[in-house]
Amino acid sequence: MLILGIESSCDDTGAAVVEDGGILRSSVVSSQDAIHAKYGGIVPELASRRHIEMIIPVVDEALKQASVAIEEIDGVAVTQGPGLAGSLLVGLSFAKSLSYARAIPITGVNHIEAHVMAAFLHKSGGKGTDVPAFPFVALIVSGGHTTLLHVKDFTRCEIIGHTVDDAAGEAFDKVAKLLGLGYPGGLAIDRLAKDGNPSFVEFTRPYMAKGNLNFSFSGVKTAVLTYVKGRNGGLPPEILKDLAASFQETVVDVLISKAMRAVGAVNSKTLVLAGGVACNSRLRAKLTAEAGKQGLRLFIPEPHLCSDNGAMIASLGYHQIKKGSKAGLDLNAKPNWD
Ligand code: KG4
Ligand code: ZN
Repeated sequence: MLILGIESSCDDTGAAVVEDGGILRSSVVSSQDAIHAKYGGIVPELASRRHIEMIIPVVDEALKQASVAIEEIDGVAVTQGPGLAGSLLVGLSFAKSLSYARAIPITGVNHIEAHVMAAFLHKSGGKGTDVPAFPFVALIVSGGHTTLLHVKDFTRCEIIGHTVDDAAGEAFDKVAKLLGLGYPGGLAIDRLAKDGNPSFVEFTRPYMAKGNLNFSFSGVKTAVLTYVKGRNGGLPPEILKDLAASFQETVVDVLISKAMRAVGAVNSKTLVLAGGVACNSRLRAKLTAEAGKQGLRLFIPEPHLCSDNGAMIASLGYHQIKKGSKAGLDLNAKPNWD
């Protein structure tokens, strides 16, 4: 079964063709980073306008790269939420029009749950590829969400932890902005931190109370700001990289500690990490080492599948359609859908 996945929840326009929920036939993502960089963050109005410009070329390219004609598509999966209302509506309106005009079944997908599906995607010929066995824990870390899920089945999961303030990626972006590193800042901090001393400033690891699976990152961001303001001599390059490394280490330590706590809490031996922040090299390396020590099976998808894409939407959509979930033209955006 071939599913066309469409993603437009934030600032990336994504479309992909996925076969039987796992085989990645194509995945095309058009990034808006250059548009939002000069404002230091996403401007929702500009994001939706750009989605309108890009949605048709991106879908066309995804079909072309998969060597699939629209007539061969068996279902359309589209992100319904959470996300920016205006951005979500572009993908939804397009997907509904396509579904109506071509009489193709359509299903609405939860973006956070879809991130988990990156762990099930593999290239053609990769059949039998190692995939996580249910139930397992997933840590989804991105610009808009930091969520721990207890995943029981493709279409059944429970939120067991989430951020009470900033998402991890949001903290990376805000700290990068105050360090003058531009937007989006996660990758810039990751690169700078490679030569920095992670113990230069020992920021408090937030929200570590025993048993708690929630996250809080706004305090670390404020601690970095306070440190910067307190430095009369400005931020010479050697201090900047140490500060970036110290901030990154704090976030990484909290994410790993909570993920380990979560697998213990639900007695799981399998962990999936996904979302844009899962591209972070320090997080990938440290979590891999920790999972090895704890004897956990760890799945971290390739970076292009960790950040927002249409393939993860197509994959979850496949399982929803297989279970009989089909939507109609009343399918609407759910911006605050957790
Ligand atoms: O999942 P994603 O592409 O979009 C959302 O759903 O938000 O995640 C984007 C976030 C941004 O905050 C970005 O700074 C962060 O992921 N990010 C990183 C890295 N690459 C992207 N954060 C830390 N290290 C990275 N290498
Ligand atoms: Zn996302």
